[in-house]
Amino acid sequence: MPDQQKPAQAGAAGVPLQVAASALPVSAEQIAHAAALLDAGGLVAFPTETVYGLGGDAENPDAVARIYAAKGRPANHPVIVHLAPQGDPNYWVEHLPQEAQRLIDAFWPGPLTLILKRAARIPAAVSGGQESVGLRCPSHPVAQALLEAFSALRSGHGGVAAPSANRFGHVSPTTAQHVRDEFGSAIHVLDGGASDVGIESTILDLSRGFPALLRPGRVTPQDIADVLGEAPRLPDGSDATAPRASGTLKAHYAPRTPLALLPFNALEPLLAARVAGERVALVARASRAGQWADAEGVHFIAAPEDPHVYARELYGLLRALDRANVARILIEKLPDTIEWIAVNDRLGRAAAAFEAQNHG
Ligand code: TXA
Ligand code: MG
Repeated sequence: MPDQQKPAQAGAAGVPLQVAASALPVSAEQIAHAAALLDAGGLVAFPTETVYGLGGDAENPDAVARIYAAKGRPANHPVIVHLAPQGDPNYWVEHLPQEAQRLIDAFWPGPLTLILKRAARIPAAVSGGQESVGLRCPSHPVAQALLEAFSALRSGHGGVAAPSANRFGHVSPTTAQHVRDEFGSAIHVLDGGASDVGIESTILDLSRGFPALLRPGRVTPQDIADVLGEAPRLPDGSDATAPRASGTLKAHYAPRTPLALLPFNALEPLLAARVAGERVALVARASRAGQWADAEGVHFIAAPEDPHVYARELYGLLRALDRANVARILIEKLPDTIEWIAVNDRLGRAAAAFEAQNHG
C-alpha cells in the first residue's frame, strides 16, 4: 500500500484525524451547507481519493431511493456507506470480525471497502435488500470534512451512502466537472479537485466466511494477504453465491464511443484496415506504437507506463475520447500481471460493452 494514500494529517492509528478547514479547497460554510442538505434527505456529490461519490443519508431509505433514481440504477444494487475517520464501523454491522479490524487498521482511511453482515437497525435499502453492508472510510480531506459534519448532526453515527456519481453503466467521475457533465446543475457538487487514485475502491467481501475480492483497486490482493496472512479469493463469475455488485457486471464503466481492447499486434491490422477518412483513437504505450503514433487519421494517446498513473488518468481519458470525434477507440491491452489487475479490470469491462459489436 503506497504511503501516498495515508493523508499527511493522519495521526497514529486510532487517533482521530482533524482536518483544518482553512486547508480545504471548500469553505467551512460549504461543508456545513452540504451536511445540512444530507440531513434533510437531499443528495450531495463529493470528492473522494478514488472517484466522486453521489451521497445521501445511508439511514434514510428515501434519500437512498433518490440516489438510485438520479443514477438510473436498479434498486437491488447495494451502495457503499462512507464513514468519517472517527466513525464507528460497529454501529453498522452485526459483528466486526477480527480480520476486518486488522484491515481497517492497515488501510483506513483509504480505498478499501469491506462487505460485512449488516446490523438489523440499518435499513436494508442501502444494501439493495441484502443482509450485508459495504463500509469505507475515504482519505480525501473534503470527504472527511463532509462526513464529520454530517456525523456530528447524528450523534457521531452518520454515514453517507454513495455510489460513484455517474449515470448507471457510464464511466465514473474523477473531477467535479465530470459530475456536472453527468447531472447538469441538478446535483449539488463539492469541488475537491481531481481524484488521486482515479478508479473505485477495492471491495473485499468478509461476509461469507472467507475473504473474497469483489472488485480490484489500489489496495491489491497482495496488500490484503500481507495483513490477513491469507490471500483473498479472486473475482469468479461462476460463483453463483456471490453477492450482486454492479461493478462486477460484465459490461460497465463504458464510454459511448465503441472501444476495442487488444494486444498491440492485434490492433495493428485494425489500424491498417481502417476506412479512408475514418479517424480512430489509439491508446498504447509509446514504446509499442511506432509508426502508428504519427499515422494519418490516428489520434494517438501515449498510455502511461505506470499502473497507478494509468488508473488516475483512465476515466478522464475515456471521457475526453468520447468528445474527440473518433469512430472507434483502440486500446492496447496491458500485461496480465497483478500490478495491472485493476486497470485491466476496468478496461475489460469498458470493452465488454461493445463485444457484441466487435464480433458481429
Ligand atoms: O471508490 C468507491 O468505492 C466509490 C467512491 C464514491 O467511494 N464508490 C463506488 O460505489 O464505486 P459504486 O456504487 O459505484 O460501487 C460500489 C460497489 C457496487 O458494485 C456495489 O454493488 C458494491 O460496491 N457493494 C456495495 N455494498 C455492497 C454489499 N453490501 N454487498 C455487495 N456489494 C456491495
Ligand atoms: Mg459505480
